[in-house]
Amino acid sequence: MADIKSVKTKIAAQIEAATDLQTLDDIRVSALGKKGEVSLMMRELGKMSVEEKKVMGPALNGLKNDLNALVDAKKSDLENAALEAALSSETMDMSLPVLRHQGTLHPVPQVMEEMAVIFSDMGFSVAEGPDIEDDFHNFTALNFPPGHPARDMHDTFFMSAIEGEEEKKVLRTHTSPVQIRTMINQKPPIRIIAPGRTYRCDSDQTHTPMFHQVEGLVIDKDIHMGHLKGVLMDFISAFFETDVDVQFRPHHFPFTEPSAEMDVRYERDGAAIKIGQGDKWMEILGCGMVHPNVLRACGLDPDEYQGFAFGMGVDRLAMLKYGMPDLRDMFAADTRWLGHYGFDPLLQANLATGLS
Ligand code: DAH
Repeated sequence: MADIKSVKTKIAAQIEAATDLQTLDDIRVSALGKKGEVSLMMRELGKMSVEEKKVMGPALNGLKNDLNALVDAKKSDLENAALEAALSSETMDMSLPVLRHQGTLHPVPQVMEEMAVIFSDMGFSVAEGPDIEDDFHNFTALNFPPGHPARDMHDTFFMSAIEGEEEKKVLRTHTSPVQIRTMINQKPPIRIIAPGRTYRCDSDQTHTPMFHQVEGLVIDKDIHMGHLKGVLMDFISAFFETDVDVQFRPHHFPFTEPSAEMDVRYERDGAAIKIGQGDKWMEILGCGMVHPNVLRACGLDPDEYQGFAFGMGVDRLAMLKYGMPDLRDMFAADTRWLGHYGFDPLLQANLATGLS
């Protein structure tokens, strides 16, 4: 019995003195393991008389249980202390940007952002308008008279009739109605771009029923076609991040006079299209001087104010810049396609370190 007491005191002191989990476990094994001190003492029971066993059996079991309890208590103390130490030394700054992320930015918002960066550097701001438009903003105010054949060319989606309203709303067929909303709500000088979704009932390899445009509008007292050409030439070289040779070709739009289309020089390099140099021309956008009828529809006096406007397809420019072969893939929401053509959402387009 005296032995049991001194063994308990000795081992309890060792347990108490342990400063790490490994040392604690070594102590446990040397006391309670198969060949441990306590286990060896228990083996002695076999040699004892029945009387002795009655006393020593429970005493040894008690010793074993007490030591196990002490080890368990010490173990949880040490684990808690280790956790406390880790919590106070390992810090985590939740305001830092993530290092690993899977999502990518779709090329359409990427390209819209690139355009906004270029035009804002030239003093433009970004305007927006609704996707569901009325006939006035989408057509009439843009000098498409009722019944004019140019309306049919727009393959318009009409909304169902709303009770009590005579006229059906449309899904805007272009971003040009934002010109009208801006001129009605804002006094010149005006310098805006309007990126957004547009809709036409059309679908094949180069057309999707929903697509994206960026509109531009500049109105002031002394704006002429030289400004139009300068802005668009600077824009297109900045966008393609290389010198791009362009030509302006006469065209017709109801809302501009004169009207033009701008073509860029390009060449084919195998399956790839290289923009900038070459012997072929590709149409890239429509533009012109805002028609006096459009200014009048917005309450502006054409003898006092003039300006220019332009409109371009974002999806097509994205395909040309980043080499995507099929327009329809753009809107298929395929994560493999997005993984390949998508952009790092944390690297925002800017003119200082490069757009893309
Ligand atoms: N709205 C025209 C379209 O969707 C594009 C366009 C052409 C816009 C000439 C303009 C412009 O502002 O001046 O086909």
